[in-house]
Amino acid sequence: MIRRSPVRVVFVAPFFFPATLRFLDAVASLPGVPVAVVSQAPLAKLPEVIRRKVSGHYRVEDALNAGQLANAVKFLARQMSGVERLFGALEHLQVALGQVRDHLGIPGISEKAARNFRDKAQMKGILRANGLPCARHGRATSMGEARAIAAEIGLPVVIKPPEGAGAVATYRVSNGEELRRALIASAPGPDRPIVIEEFVSGRENSLETVCIRGRPVWDSHTRYTPAPLQVLETPWIQWTVLLPREEHDGDTELIRRPARAALEVLGMHTGLTHLEWFRTERGPAISEVAARPPGAQIVPLNSYAHEADFHHLWARLMVHEEFEPPVRKYSTGVAFFRGQSLGRIGERGGAGRIIALRGLDRAQDELGHLVVEANLPKLGRNKQPTYEGDGYAILRHPDTGVVEKALQRLVSLVQVEVA
Ligand SMILES: Nc1ncnc2c1ncn2[C@@H]1O[C@H](COP(=O)(O)OP(=O)(O)O)[C@@H](O)[C@H]1O
Ligand SMILES: [Mg+2]
Repeated sequence: MIRRSPVRVVFVAPFFFPATLRFLDAVASLPGVPVAVVSQAPLAKLPEVIRRKVSGHYRVEDALNAGQLANAVKFLARQMSGVERLFGALEHLQVALGQVRDHLGIPGISEKAARNFRDKAQMKGILRANGLPCARHGRATSMGEARAIAAEIGLPVVIKPPEGAGAVATYRVSNGEELRRALIASAPGPDRPIVIEEFVSGRENSLETVCIRGRPVWDSHTRYTPAPLQVLETPWIQWTVLLPREEHDGDTELIRRPARAALEVLGMHTGLTHLEWFRTERGPAISEVAARPPGAQIVPLNSYAHEADFHHLWARLMVHEEFEPPVRKYSTGVAFFRGQSLGRIGERGGAGRIIALRGLDRAQDELGHLVVEANLPKLGRNKQPTYEGDGYAILRHPDTGVVEKALQRLVSLVQVEVA
């Protein structure tokens, strides 16, 4: 048996949200790997089952502050007699993690590469400079500059923050009045740059890629229906994500080469990345790439599709730089349930509390046999403002067409009423 040299891990998890805990638990469960946690939340908030598995903890005020993170990692490194891995699953952490890795000589994605992934304008600049397809764009720090860029690109455009997430403060602008309103809302300034992009029409998809020291070794793709921005623009639409059973199809054919080239020029090291792209009439256009695992239940979708625990596979990848591609046996998909006001026509969005779930019995009768996991919206809770909404169900079947149809049927049957 080969003896591994010790790998000591610091995992950064500002708060102990369920999705973060699944990644942390997988890392802390690796045999023979000491794992310390840096968080803003107190250690007492970490569920006991995971707390037992961690060998150290350091609490910081602000996990996005590289100085505080560096102090925490130095403290834990003294306790563990060294640290070979420093990572976390959240998008907002990635630059600070890169800074601390560079500063302390820990292998992994550098600050420079992390910024390439984090800053949408910088990312697109690098992609275009390397001849990779993506939207024309510009960065503006004043209203005047923003108007000039929008005029040069031509409407429609999308306006968004350079380091956004979840399509927050992201606007589609089709005419002068919408431009005026979007610019007032996003208020560009020297400390508040905005990105203006050509609006790309096409089917929106993702491609998840596993890289080991920069070398791509595996990927998997999903299809979004409809695009996240359209979900947010349309209060009654419920979002779905489909993971086809086919590992290679027309989509992977189109995107794999540019996606791998994008990862290389942006500076990917080891990890699972989440790339979003549009399938347009003229071919693929890369939308953005994140140097962290995907959200939107795409990790569980992969686990169910392959009957393999992708949280565990990710943990091994990050810690031991190993990945054995599992065999895909199913197509899977997730439907996100989203609260809407059903009462008055023309008032279907808005805030409010969830007062009823409709259509569940019928959905159970028709589609219950396909459901592998469900987290239904909770009565009395406030409606969430995100495209992932208030709950979800994951479906699975060997035939992609069955899952695709069932997802659309499910979101047409189930309604989450808000008042
Ligand atoms: N240039 C664009 N053309 C068309 N739609 C876009 C464009 N940029 C963003 N969007 C839409 O807005 C959503 C959010 O934008 P994105 O760049 O992915 O930021 P994030 O997901 O980090 O908030 C996308 O999923 C897509 O639906
Ligand atoms: Mg996105």
